[in-house]
Amino acid sequence: MACRDGHQSDGQRALRRRAIPAMLLPDRTKGIPMRMQDKVAVITGGASGIGRRTAERYVEEGGRVIVADIQDAAGEQACAALGGPERARFIRCDVLREADIAAAVALAVGTWGRLDLMFNNAGRGGVPDPIETMPAEGWDWTMSLLVRSVMLGIKHATGPMRAQGGGAIVNTASIAGLIPGSTAAAYSVAKASVIHLTKCAALELAPLRIRVNCVCPGPIATPIFGRGLNLPSQLDASVAARAAAVLDDFQPLPRGGRPDDIAEGVMYLADERAGFVTGHALTIDGGFAAGMRKSDHDRVWAPLRTAVAGLAESA
Ligand SMILES: NC(=O)c1ccc[n+]([C@@H]2O[C@H](COP(=O)([O-])OP(=O)(O)OC[C@H]3O[C@@H](n4cnc5c(N)ncnc54)[C@H](O)[C@@H]3O)[C@@H](O)[C@H]2O)c1
Repeated sequence: MACRDGHQSDGQRALRRRAIPAMLLPDRTKGIPMRMQDKVAVITGGASGIGRRTAERYVEEGGRVIVADIQDAAGEQACAALGGPERARFIRCDVLREADIAAAVALAVGTWGRLDLMFNNAGRGGVPDPIETMPAEGWDWTMSLLVRSVMLGIKHATGPMRAQGGGAIVNTASIAGLIPGSTAAAYSVAKASVIHLTKCAALELAPLRIRVNCVCPGPIATPIFGRGLNLPSQLDASVAARAAAVLDDFQPLPRGGRPDDIAEGVMYLADERAGFVTGHALTIDGGFAAGMRKSDHDRVWAPLRTAVAGLAESA
């Protein structure tokens, strides 16, 4: 039972966690199909969080990945854990720099001869300022990091994919791109732009059999929440754990979002199972963007009900 203010006590939260039906959790016990056998991906932001988990899933299903990130140590460590240079290679790639993105694609093609998935995923929170006091350079930085980088990823993936007769591009947007006000304006506008860019690119590239889709994650327990506070990367695991501890009640489904949830969506969009899907924004958010929860709805409407009920009593 929820407290009057709509929040839950630790005990209530623990009970809720225990009650998660098995069908809501991914089943990793049934054997993993090798859908990405001999396929090659470039994953920007592949050293952490959603990108790293997607790299793991891609390799688990037989593929090879280029992990493209600005975190050298974490990127190298991720690649070693993925099986070393036969399976995964790291390249330092700052997605603010076009030449770095081109080099990541060139490494994939030069090493393994093809590019099947371009996952334009690197990012962090944009500038938090309200529009009234927005520094123009902060706005430009946010758009460069989150939108221009995605455009450049699409641009440089197109040549190799055209040459091999097709491919899949997946971009990371956000529910912030669907719901204005759910984050600061710059990030929200950037992610809305990623959704629109995805559709524009899908139309342009469909004749080349290049499918372009995006994922719109809800809150996912990753180190991203520490990056805006400039916390050192040694605290990444602690940041993700703290985020996980408070996200259980954030959305209608009674558990928090995890990198695995988004990785599965990317794997679907990358694969031939989604061979007729392009220009799609796949929301993966435990129902957050679907609408207001009953508990929130009741809280918002309670004052009105009370006010009108008072009239009924005096009538
Ligand atoms: N975690 C969430 O709640 C959430 C929700 C919606 C969307 N997203 C989006 O998901 C994507 C991945 O975020 P995450 O949650 O996995 O965070 P994360 O911090 O765990 O991973 C992001 C990775 O991107 C890298 N990166 C940052 N700037 C870069 C740059 N200039 N060049 C190259 N790499 C860079 C970081 O080093 C990091 O490894 C981001 O685009 C983010 O906006 C996250």
